[in-house]
Amino acid sequence: MTSKMREYLQIAEKAALVGGNILRYYFEHLRDLDIREKSRNDYVTQADIESERAIRSIISSAFPDHKIVGEEEGISGEEKGRFVWYVDPLDGTKNFMRGLDVFGVSIALEVDGELVLGVVYSPVRDELYSALRGEGAYKNWKRISVSGKKELKGAFLATGFPHRSGDIVEVYIETFRTFSKDTIGIRRMGSAAMDLCMVAEGIFDAFWEYHLKPWDIAAGVVIVEEAGGVVTDFRGGRDFLRTGNILGAASPQLHREMLEVLKKYDR
Ligand code: 2AM
Ligand code: CA
Repeated sequence: MTSKMREYLQIAEKAALVGGNILRYYFEHLRDLDIREKSRNDYVTQADIESERAIRSIISSAFPDHKIVGEEEGISGEEKGRFVWYVDPLDGTKNFMRGLDVFGVSIALEVDGELVLGVVYSPVRDELYSALRGEGAYKNWKRISVSGKKELKGAFLATGFPHRSGDIVEVYIETFRTFSKDTIGIRRMGSAAMDLCMVAEGIFDAFWEYHLKPWDIAAGVVIVEEAGGVVTDFRGGRDFLRTGNILGAASPQLHREMLEVLKKYDR
């Protein structure tokens, strides 16, 4: 690992822990939380905003010219630089605001168009997932790996329901119908970042969802891949940050089996 990469990772981990501590504080004082509906069915709280502010300030003090793409404050830094950080200060906002502890901070770095590191921190569980391209995936500094499950039969899946575009509910239901036939169960946890981490550590054998935003998934992609999984969009390509369509699976075989279905329902 180059010392530069190590420095990026250290800053990402520090930012995730600081952001996460802010989330933990508000999670323990939910009654005082200020909540606003940004657009229909899309919420932002004081916790999202303060967490993002703290994370941005740590990244931009360390790397002033890096571009930062964050959920709440948009884009800052050099427009066409080589370095892009994707920051979700709170993935799983609805869980958070209802007192359900499945949520976390998600931070990823892209260099020259390639995602090179991902960090996801769950502050209530105090679990820090991190991965650096080529260096494996870790949870609290212990190596993690995918389950290696090779087929849908008997698989345990995670998914997210469509929320941004109501018109894909019908196609989504077709994918759900097909996958539910053979699997032992399908769970909907409400945080894409956490879903991907749970694929990386072998709890789930795969995860699929439509139309996510780059900051929901960028970190999780690196974590799943470094844990030995396969991640693509619904055409088998790497356009998941732009399309928001993501399939992460515990083996090339399971990935292929699910991709055959998702290809038919790519929207
Ligand atoms: P968020 O909590 O950061 O918004 C769950 O399906 C995933 O989709 C989560 O990663 C969640 O991220 C995102 N999500 C859920 N509802 C959403 C909405 N109405 N608008 C945008 N993103 C949403
Ligand atoms: Ca968010």
